[in-house]
Amino acid sequence: DTPYPTEIREYLYKILVIGDLGTGKTSIIKRYVHNIFSQNYKSTIGVDFALKVIQWSPDTVVRLQLWDIAGQERFGNMTRVYYKEAVAALVVYDVTRPKTFEAVSKWKADLDSKVSLPDGEPIPVILLANKIDLQEEMSGPLDTEELDTFCDEHGFLKWFGTSAKNNSNIDDAAQYLLEEIMSRE
Ligand code: GTP
Ligand code: MG
Repeated sequence: DTPYPTEIREYLYKILVIGDLGTGKTSIIKRYVHNIFSQNYKSTIGVDFALKVIQWSPDTVVRLQLWDIAGQERFGNMTRVYYKEAVAALVVYDVTRPKTFEAVSKWKADLDSKVSLPDGEPIPVILLANKIDLQEEMSGPLDTEELDTFCDEHGFLKWFGTSAKNNSNIDDAAQYLLEEIMSRE
């Protein structure tokens, strides 16, 4: 019962989701935004969009505009356009396909060469080791030390083992990224 209405602060952030074909970018976004998952693979063409609205605090609303960029686009010449004015990114690989991990540093290099924050710093990026539900069945846990070192060396803030299928760790990864973004406001 405050005597005056509180001023609501609103933020809009553009977040990129990139990584090779079929790594689960669209699935992660669908899980995060709509809490759904499908086994059917329908490859994204060009770019897709989703919006996640978060009540960050009683007086702060955050809108995340998620740019779901087709894996195919690494070989095209549109990424510079897609990356424009992004403030953060998620790079996704598929733990069952080592080639998609090899592509992670290529995506990161593409990103760093084409987008930066207004102060010139690289945008914050998180690595998602996706389909962890299958990895556990196939060959046991991930080499966490190797991933920690990889993140240090390639300028990733942190990595998360995720599953869009089982809804593992996606909220945590997004929360972590958002805390990083908000800490700069
Ligand atoms: P492109 O749009 O082609 O770049 O692919 P994408 O990265 O958007 O992959 P998408 O989300 O379409 O997923 C590809 C396939 O992997 C689909 O059949 C999904 O059901 C499956 N998939 C995605 N995430 C997971 C996961 O966490 N676990 C398992 N088991 N399957 C997954
Ligand atoms: Mg897709």
